[in-house]
Amino acid sequence: MSRIEALMRKMSLTEKLGQLTMTASRYATTGPIIAGDSTQAIKDGTIGNLLNMVGADHVHDMQRLAVEESRLGIPLLIGFDVVHGHRTLFPIPLGEASLFDPETWALTARESAREAAADGLAMTFAPMLDVSRDPRWGRSAEGPGEDPWLAARFAEAKVRGFQGNDLAASDALAATAKHFCAYGAVTAGRDYASVDISERTLREVHLPSFAAAVAAGVAAVMPAFTDLAGVPMTANGALLRGWLRRKLGFDGVIVSDYNAIAELIHHGIAADLAQAATLALQAGVDIDMMADAYRRGLPTALDRGWVSSMEIDAAVRRVLTLKERLGLFDDPYRRGAAPETAATLASRRQLARVVGSRAIVMLKNERGVLPLAEAPARLAVIGPLADASSEMRGPWWGAAAPEGQVTVATALREMLSESRVLHAAGVEIDGDDMSGVAAALDVCSRAEAILLCLGEAATMSGEAASRAHLGLPGRQREFAEAVFARAKLLRKPVIVILFSGRPLVVPWLADKSDAMLAAWFLGSESGYAIGDVILGRVSPSGRSPISWPRATGQVPIFFGQRPTGRPANPDDHFTSKYLDVPNEPLFSFGHGLTYGRFSYSNLRVPRDGVTERDTIAVRVDVTNDGARAAEETVFLFTHDKLASVSRPVLELRGFGKIHLKPGATGTVTLMLPAAELRFLGPDLEPVYEPGEVEILVGPCANRTQLLAGIIQLSRAPPS
Ligand code: GLC
Repeated sequence: MSRIEALMRKMSLTEKLGQLTMTASRYATTGPIIAGDSTQAIKDGTIGNLLNMVGADHVHDMQRLAVEESRLGIPLLIGFDVVHGHRTLFPIPLGEASLFDPETWALTARESAREAAADGLAMTFAPMLDVSRDPRWGRSAEGPGEDPWLAARFAEAKVRGFQGNDLAASDALAATAKHFCAYGAVTAGRDYASVDISERTLREVHLPSFAAAVAAGVAAVMPAFTDLAGVPMTANGALLRGWLRRKLGFDGVIVSDYNAIAELIHHGIAADLAQAATLALQAGVDIDMMADAYRRGLPTALDRGWVSSMEIDAAVRRVLTLKERLGLFDDPYRRGAAPETAATLASRRQLARVVGSRAIVMLKNERGVLPLAEAPARLAVIGPLADASSEMRGPWWGAAAPEGQVTVATALREMLSESRVLHAAGVEIDGDDMSGVAAALDVCSRAEAILLCLGEAATMSGEAASRAHLGLPGRQREFAEAVFARAKLLRKPVIVILFSGRPLVVPWLADKSDAMLAAWFLGSESGYAIGDVILGRVSPSGRSPISWPRATGQVPIFFGQRPTGRPANPDDHFTSKYLDVPNEPLFSFGHGLTYGRFSYSNLRVPRDGVTERDTIAVRVDVTNDGARAAEETVFLFTHDKLASVSRPVLELRGFGKIHLKPGATGTVTLMLPAAELRFLGPDLEPVYEPGEVEILVGPCANRTQLLAGIIQLSRAPPS
């Protein structure tokens, strides 16, 4: 008899419900409910899982209570939000997506898993895979941007990275694909608000990343807090049991979000905890995070005949199976058995620096102001984010301390010298105090160039951080205007470093700056990463994974829109456009300048008919017409101009990279399996329709910058 079946036979109902319960350790909470002390419950076997605990000593203490002092000795499953690093932080996911590099995405997840497992953890509540086209929503920061194809590649890489090749290994974490699903489509960008989208949009945009995570073997899935067309995801049997488990064959653990089961009462579909617990269990949720609904509600639900012991047992088996897969029964102290070496930590910090520099998106660089190759004798490093260590962490900073995150000022003092860096904050991130402006302007007067570090605080994006106004917070705009005015008088360049967890609506800033870098939140090595780019030691290569609106009124804004019956035409009043701003974003998906200057030519696409069994090879020549070597990311889009349903004007199908020296030309080959050109027909069933499809290749999702060719899809001859 298996270990799990033997345990199942011994377990009381109370012990079974304990295995379905996850509570926050007293060390930290990430939601409205504050945890108590779980030690007695662990010894009694009525708590089987914990979250928000870090430190191998704490974890092993709790593990020892479960394994050595409880009746059945079932080890605890302990999880934490290792979203973009643990103690060593990498860029926030939206920033890391800018790399367009699945291998590196996997590598940072692998390193994060190693660091978290060394702290005793066995599960992370990541990757966050919610596609977002609405920068008002603060959780855009945690995800892979606006495109479902990219989100799917991100999902695969992160699951691979977190889980490694052996889930029982001492440095493996169980990954959790979250938040299932369509959380990024909340009404008006307001966190936790209702989601109401078409079945087509659900399947074309919001499910692909989760399908990819399941295909990659993700161990767990977390439903979103939100309702989808009136059915809260935590009780959505059609999508949890129906699509996830039955259609995709997902047999892992479904863990609720924090207190989400109890919140079915606020959603208005449960009268009490017993009904809430019933709905969640029958929808397929195995672990109740922090609501205590299963422990307190399922005994009543059993008495009322609303649930069966079989349904409870099925959930318990999945939880015990995950613990077994993680090796927790074999060696509950395996994770955290030995601290990592200083060399490992140093190497990880170096990786964070490299990844940070590659996540930077250079939005503008007038007259080649950057790089500051001949570093100026004195550099003004000003603004509220110039020397703000804790802010460099960004949202979901995990176990990373507020101090010790490298700031721009710290790094440049070291990379240049103390005397060459003149720092002044000028204003606060979000305050009214302007008393520091004069000193900052004086610093500008004494420098040859100005680095103006502006943006959001780390807590202005992430969870429960929606913003209705997407400009700079506080008095930063007034401060920046004063700096631009002084710089103009002094004829000195102003380079803006913009820190944010989302695209900000700052057309005026883009207009007035000489150069502008999107620095997102780059994590522990932010300052060095920015210094490496500013000083030309690294050419920026990041490309934005999300469109930057000109105005909040354009939101939701994304490149994959449908053409409408009246596509925008500036010469025709009655077409789809605004009276007051262009339709196009300020910066397109994929936008990002480098220290090279790239041109495209000689697009080659297959001439013969392409059947569903074929793979399309698309080739294009790229030349670096610039004066510096750089890496270009080349995007492959398609547009199906005539189909049985209206197709998006651009669909991302792939990307490639090429590093070229000045004057060099290279060929980029992009392979596209024709089967990926299937789409959901009018009946939402996949179809492969013969006919013309545009192939578009170029530097970003701006059609004016793309080379286009036509391929002919045809039916495969009968085999
Ligand atoms: C939070 C978040 C979720 C996180 C969980 C545990 O409310 O929604 O992403 O994993 O609680 O911290």
